[in-house]
Amino acid sequence: MSALAELYQEIANCQDCGLAKHRTKVVPGEGPEEAALLFIGEAPGWNEDQQGRPFVGPAGAFLDQLLASIGLSRREVYIANVIKCRPPQNRDPLPAEIQACRKWLDRQIEIIHPRMIITLGRYSLARYFPNESIGKIHGKARKLDNVIYYPMYHPAAALHQGSLRQVIEADMLKIPQILAQGEEVAEAAVEAQQLSLF
Ligand code: URA
Repeated sequence: MSALAELYQEIANCQDCGLAKHRTKVVPGEGPEEAALLFIGEAPGWNEDQQGRPFVGPAGAFLDQLLASIGLSRREVYIANVIKCRPPQNRDPLPAEIQACRKWLDRQIEIIHPRMIITLGRYSLARYFPNESIGKIHGKARKLDNVIYYPMYHPAAALHQGSLRQVIEADMLKIPQILAQGEEVAEAAVEAQQLSLF
């Protein structure tokens, strides 16, 4: 059994917060173990809870279009959420629920070892950039320990606020170039370190 399949079994048995008793299906995430890109959303909604798969409702349809705009399909990337079970009535996840679920995403990231982590919306943004606002830092990549972090608005934001659609589309289109340049950035950093020795 693959490392991810084993992890999915553990997640399916999780009872670490109150959301477990409300769920129809747990939504661990999906995609290849060797994916270079990892997208992190917020929480499963109604459709995801029914199917046990992330981003299969209207926001997911838009995410599929965004991926297609850079020549990718969802089968080629990994898609996960900050929490793995749907909050009742799609309410915002509570801090305790996010904390209880944190270990699962940590382990997914350890297994997948993505080159680029794309945060979708404020909850996944807060995991990496707790005090920053999406309005200021969306579409700006940063590199830490050889992983590129790239904050984007949540695709559902475009469904509620049409003016954000173009912003999200433009941010997505930048991803291939950022990935391609990622290696150069790493090399430049090593050189800079060596230079500073003298
Ligand atoms: N919104 C999310 O953040 N995640 C999903 O899986 C679906 C909608």
